[in-house]
Amino acid sequence: MENLDYNKVNLSTENVHVLLINFSTFDFQNYMNYLTSNEIKRLGNINNINNRNQFVASRVVIKKILSKYLKKIPNKIEFSFNKHGKPFIRDKYHNHRFEFNISHSDIYGLIAITLDNKIGVDIQKINHDIDVDSLSSRFFSENEKTQLMNLDKSKKIDAFHLGWARKESFIKAIGEGVAYGLDNFTVSLEKNDTKSILDIKNKKWHCYNIIDFENYKTALTTEIKSKIITSSNEVNISTNF
Ligand SMILES: CC(C)(COP(=O)(O)OP(=O)(O)OC[C@H]1O[C@@H](n2cnc3c(N)ncnc32)[C@H](O)[C@@H]1OP(=O)(O)O)[C@@H](O)C(=O)NCCC(=O)NCCS
Repeated sequence: MENLDYNKVNLSTENVHVLLINFSTFDFQNYMNYLTSNEIKRLGNINNINNRNQFVASRVVIKKILSKYLKKIPNKIEFSFNKHGKPFIRDKYHNHRFEFNISHSDIYGLIAITLDNKIGVDIQKINHDIDVDSLSSRFFSENEKTQLMNLDKSKKIDAFHLGWARKESFIKAIGEGVAYGLDNFTVSLEKNDTKSILDIKNKKWHCYNIIDFENYKTALTTEIKSKIITSSNEVNISTNF
């Protein structure tokens, strides 16, 4: 993994850039000029202030990056959505497809972006109050349930959240979301075991540890094996990072 310096590193098909955002110091009202009319409409349906900040901040970061390549002003960059809700953009860069994905949990968000490589990212704030046995019995594969069963109680919560982040990053890379069926594939619940994930057609997807910090678990899944370049600090949205 390499550290991301945005002034030096360009997007390429070989690398995936991962950016960490902190929404707690962000005020969406200062960034309305980044949004298209469709996005302003969607923002109007979001009531919670933190969710509004999540929605706008992730768009600002992606649009700042894309506008550099597309030479378009941010409010002219329009997201489209696949039938499961995964956003993408139709604009190409020298015949390359932009691929990006967004995740948010409480005050933190992650954005992953690359070219020609399907990706999914996920961040999960650890919730110590959840019933791991009940959730895993509903959503985990048999193999994952066995991995959990063999763990001490103290390690179960961490392993569950890591597994959940990996599973979500995979269904988001594929673009189907939960409709794919969370128990149709298996991830490792062990941090240092980033073995590939097999989809239902036996195709290999690549699993990466990205930023790890207290109280959160994160994961990235990619279609093509990649170099992962991560921002070591939270992105300062008000600059051109
Ligand atoms: C995608 C999904 C797994 C996200 O789960 P989550 O943990 O609650 O949320 P996260 O914060 O990690 O991710 C949310 C982001 O994922 C992206 N996203 C939405 N649907 C997605 C999909 N199918 N695949 C990949 N990414 C998706 C969006 O960018 C969203 O952020 P935004 O609303 O700010 O744009 C879940 O919402 C899902 O399965 N959605 C599909 C539902 C569906 O099939 N809808 C059909 C009608 S649109």
